[in-house]
Amino acid sequence: MKRSTKLALGIATAAGFGFAIAVAFAHPMGGPMAGAMQHGDASFADDMRLVHAMLVDNTKIKRTVTNLSDGIRTVTESDDPGVARAIKAHVASMEKRLYEGRVFNLFSPTIPVLFENRHKIKTVVETTAKGSIVTQTTDDPKVADALQAHALEVNELVRDGMAAMRRNMQARMGHTAPR
Ligand code: HEM
Repeated sequence: MKRSTKLALGIATAAGFGFAIAVAFAHPMGGPMAGAMQHGDASFADDMRLVHAMLVDNTKIKRTVTNLSDGIRTVTESDDPGVARAIKAHVASMEKRLYEGRVFNLFSPTIPVLFENRHKIKTVVETTAKGSIVTQTTDDPKVADALQAHALEVNELVRDGMAAMRRNMQARMGHTAPR
């Protein structure tokens, strides 16, 4: 089937965002991801609530990323028990989604690559009292690059919270982010 790109516009307020954002996502139709719409499944709203909770409390999150020769090791934690719970729940849910191939994405250019190559990714999650330690490795150097790039995207979300989300949205929609 011919692959085409579909641009969808929607409003994410229902998913817990305090402001209206235009949700744009490029969805490859007809390829291996056909039918895997990112916003239609049962846990989408729960996953959005967790993301929102982490983005508004981004300053309470500490994160370190170590690039391995074949992937990443990340430590993401918070002294705030509620934020720590959100981190653990997000990581558990995302790894389940990755394992099952149920895409969850809004604006990340690397997440689609990870889902398309999910069978090449080995993930080990350890939970700590304050968060999660995630080790992801692969034999494919291109996938290792995508894992490392995604880990940096998460760093930016932790550093800048909602502002990073808006930047990503604008980049995805072809606008220049305001300074
Ligand atoms: C402050 C906000 C966020 C934090 C702290 C966070 C944290 C994490 C962590 C710790 C991981 C495991 C991989 C890694 O450590 O790099 C992860 C994976 C993932 N996150 Fe987030 N995340 C945030 C926002 C988002 C957003 C906005 C989305 C999409 C809408 C998202 C989707 C995913 C997906 C799909 C994965 C699985 C990818 C993989 O395991 O390689 N996250 N996130």
